[in-house]
Amino acid sequence: MSRTQKRIQNILVVGGAGYVGSHVAKCLEKAGYNPVILDDLSTGHRKAARSATFYQGHYGDRELLKSIFSKHSISAVMHFGAKALVGESVADPLLYASSNIAGTIALLEGMRAANVNRFIFSSTCNVFGDPKEVPIHEGVQKLPVNPYGFSKFAVEQVLQHMDQAYQFRSASLRYFNAAGADPEGELGEDHRCETHLIPNAIRSLTGRSPALTIFGNDYPTPDGTCIRDYVHVNDLASAHISALELIDSQNRSVDFNLGSEQGYSVNEVIHMLEKVSGKQVPRKLGARRPGDAPRLVADSSKAKRELLWKTSFDLEAIVRTAYQWLAKNPEGYAS
Ligand SMILES: NC(=O)c1ccc[n+]([C@@H]2O[C@H](COP(=O)([O-])OP(=O)(O)OC[C@H]3O[C@@H](n4cnc5c(N)ncnc54)[C@H](O)[C@@H]3O)[C@@H](O)[C@H]2O)c1
Repeated sequence: MSRTQKRIQNILVVGGAGYVGSHVAKCLEKAGYNPVILDDLSTGHRKAARSATFYQGHYGDRELLKSIFSKHSISAVMHFGAKALVGESVADPLLYASSNIAGTIALLEGMRAANVNRFIFSSTCNVFGDPKEVPIHEGVQKLPVNPYGFSKFAVEQVLQHMDQAYQFRSASLRYFNAAGADPEGELGEDHRCETHLIPNAIRSLTGRSPALTIFGNDYPTPDGTCIRDYVHVNDLASAHISALELIDSQNRSVDFNLGSEQGYSVNEVIHMLEKVSGKQVPRKLGARRPGDAPRLVADSSKAKRELLWKTSFDLEAIVRTAYQWLAKNPEGYAS
């Protein structure tokens, strides 16, 4: 290997058969890294894990972790694996504590034992609960209002302590609403229990689900429906790669709120899907859901400044890529 040639780094992508993880793994490969995927396929899909090296198993399985770390020279871990349904977390908080907190701690212990000290963590804007300040920057108080958000906040805290005690460097990346699909059409969003607006609206439009329910139109927003910040998965992927390079080059831990900084209402997203597809989305009005804040939008100026991050996909591109993938794969990965 010449001095100018970079050694190919193996990155353990936990949850790499899931929606965000599979897109990031593909982008990692394109950027010259070698993703090694660990996924128990509880919500992911074997077809989405394109990488040659795939392990099926739980990220809390200490023996499996030991064997992966001993077989591959892993230089960093990206952790997408989680239970991620707010309602389920309220109904079964111990499941979330056990999977998202205890499981992640086992993963971190496995990393420490193998002397792997770089970790990129999928956190969420849910850690802010119902924030007092919008747009939401990293300094806004974190007061999660459900066990899912709490589980992510707890891991963020552990990571901060590990940074101080062990010089273990991490990036906590708080996504807003991850959306869209691989522009090359190989990957998309396929959650068995889908709670996200864009895929659900597409399913209603293509007749695979009944009419889309709009949860309340009497919020204090211009059209009365809730406003959210949609960020394309490939834009998230580029932030992961930049964060990995930053914690490596600057030897420090970081946290970033990742969103497009644009808020779109439920109605605006539906209108965009109708424009992109040329079809009507059948819809009906339902009651407000408890806990839905009227407007959640990111302030991502820190990521722009420190990661030199910029988003390349606007709402139209997000909706178009999602629509193209689901129109071509109506049963998701089972198509
Ligand atoms: N999708 C979003 O809008 C969004 C927003 C904020 C944060 N996040 C976070 O991003 C991450 C990825 O979200 P996603 O939408 O891709 O979810 P996903 O369910 O599609 O992906 C999660 C993957 O992790 C795997 N997994 C779950 N538990 C596991 C375990 N114990 N061992 C091994 N693998 C396991 C699943 O099989 C799946 O492939 C999650 O941590 C989620 O909390 C997602």
